Amino acid sequence: MTWAVVPAAGQGRRFGGETPKQYLTLAGRPLIEHSLLAVLSHDDVDGVMVAVAADDPWWPGWRELGGKPVLTCVGGGERADSVLAGLQALPASVSEDQWVLVHDAARPCLHADDLARLLAIGQAHPVGALLAAPVRDTLKRADATGHSQSTEPRDGLWRALTPQLFRRGGLTRALLAALHAGIKATDEAMALERLGLRPCLVEGREDNLKVTTPADLALAEFILSRAGK
Ligand code: CTP
Ligand code: MG
Repeated sequence: MTWAVVPAAGQGRRFGGETPKQYLTLAGRPLIEHSLLAVLSHDDVDGVMVAVAADDPWWPGWRELGGKPVLTCVGGGERADSVLAGLQALPASVSEDQWVLVHDAARPCLHADDLARLLAIGQAHPVGALLAAPVRDTLKRADATGHSQSTEPRDGLWRALTPQLFRRGGLTRALLAALHAGIKATDEAMALERLGLRPCLVEGREDNLKVTTPADLALAEFILSRAGK
């Protein structure tokens, strides 16, 4: 039994506008619907817990999608708080040892092949796994005046994507530990790494983009249309 937790309580400040980006229309549906349907499409995924903002007026109110349950809880001030709220709100039938997928509401272009590979590799791994993509650009370190000071080697550097797959209990404890240490974990893997654990990097598609700015929305529309959605 694998459940998904989808943090969807962000305000989309970098995107701008009144409606949070996860509720904007993308290829004829709310953007978040693509993200939810993508995680629910795999047979191993039994349902999803969506962390939404308190009194969120935009949440469409789904109770099920793709024939599977959609539950909601109230998210928190940072992404990690929302993920933690989602983990804690999962049904009691999801045991501490069960795998949980965490997927950003703002990633509507997740491909079924990537999800299948992540589940297969992650469930066979002692720690868990995340989708990630190798860094391709040349990396510059800036000085305080915004000038290029040096070039950083990009060998061994990856961009973390979602979904990320960890056991319910281990991830909850790792996120709580980061929170209590005052560390803002920007993804799940970061919370585990600081405990000395080494999640498996599963190379994912470059087009699993996180919609962050209006330009990303146009790109996502193109990616989904190419996928026939
Ligand atoms: N998220 C969340 N709770 C928060 C902050 C973010 O559930 N307090 C979610 C967002 O809704 C999104 C995902 O985490 O699905 C990734 O975050 P990001 O892309 O940073 O979205 P926002 O925080 O909404 O955008 P911004 O940082 O530009 O304000
Ligand atoms: Mg954010």
